[in-house]
Order: sequence, then structure tokens, then C-alpha cells
Amino acid sequence: MKLYHAPASPFVRKVMVLLHETGATDLVTLVPVTGTPIAPGTLPVDRNPLGKIPALERDDGPTLYDSRVICRYLDETLGAGLYPASPRLWDTLVLEATADGITDAAVLMRYEMHVRPAATRSTEWMDAQWSKVDRALTAVEDRWMSHLSGHLDMGLIAMGCALGYLDFRHSDRDWRATRPQLRAWWERLGARPSFLETTPTG
Ligand code: BEZ
Repeated sequence: MKLYHAPASPFVRKVMVLLHETGATDLVTLVPVTGTPIAPGTLPVDRNPLGKIPALERDDGPTLYDSRVICRYLDETLGAGLYPASPRLWDTLVLEATADGITDAAVLMRYEMHVRPAATRSTEWMDAQWSKVDRALTAVEDRWMSHLSGHLDMGLIAMGCALGYLDFRHSDRDWRATRPQLRAWWERLGARPSFLETTPTG
């Protein structure tokens, strides 16, 4: 299978961490792509009409896209168990959605600063995106530490990728300052080989 890939993408990183955790990196050939929402470049618009990565081109079926769809597919194919049985599944899915929402807002902020022309940039809009990140991180610190301390699942992996992206692109915002539990948790999770091998670059 071919995985359309960029080393800076936190959503691609979710898929790569899953592959490392399951010892299945050989299952995919990485296809490096570049582009932005304004200039799609080599993003696989013919494979994913939304022009987003990750996209997983399969040998025996249509291309899959959206990191949650790809991770579900690989988890089932590999029997990885990163989506546990119900009722824990619902917590895993909500945590994954929360982490992806943090990542979405953080990526939009990055585009605002580096893709949108300076004259049309909006500080108000940036602040509104950061408010989402801030609220979600506080909710995780207040309510999700018990789940995060449990078995590795896609909720934990997605949260690790979200925090890794904040460190990569928004380190000036100092998300750790008021979140000692999340800071300590990410220090432990980020030391796993699957995260060390997928540290964002670019
Ligand atoms: C980034 O460079 O921050 C980035 C690259 C690909 C997808 C999302 C973000």
C-alpha cells in the first residue's frame, strides 16, 4: 500500500505511530508530498478530492483518507486492538476526536501565519482557534488523566500527536504551564520509540 506522507503532518504521524507500534511499517511505501490549501502542489487530489493527507492507496480497494478512517482500517487489518471494545471504545473515540480537534485548530493557526498573506491575517481568528486548544487541553488535564494512564489506544496516540504538534509549531504558547499532569504524561509517551521515530520535521 502507498501512504501519502509529509513528515510535519500530525495526522500522518498518527498513522505512522500505529504502524511503528504494531511493527508494520513495511506494510506501506511512503509517498512524500508537499502543498498547502492554497497551492495543492503534489498533494494527492486525484486520490482524495479534499487534497488532504494522510491518504492510503490500497492494492485491493479504493484509497482511504482521513486519519481516523485509516487508523480504524489498519487497526482492524492488523488486529492491533488500539480501538478497544465498548464501553471503553466510546472514551477512546471521544479522546481521539478531542485530540484531532486540538490538532485541527493548531494547523489552521499555522496556515494563518504562514500561508495567508500578511495583510489578511486575523489575530482575532487566531485567538479563537487557540481558545479551542486551550479549553480542550484543560478538559483533558481535568477529566482524562485516568484514561490516559491506561492501555495504549488511538485516543492516547492522537493526544500524543496533538501535543507533539503544539511543541513543533506553537512552542511559544507554553501549553505546559498550567497542566502538570499532561506534561508528565507526554514526557513518558513521547519517549516511546514509535514517537521518537516520527518526530515532526520540515
Ligand atoms: C505543517 O507544516 O505544520 C503541516 C504540514 C502538513 C499538514 C499539516 C501541517
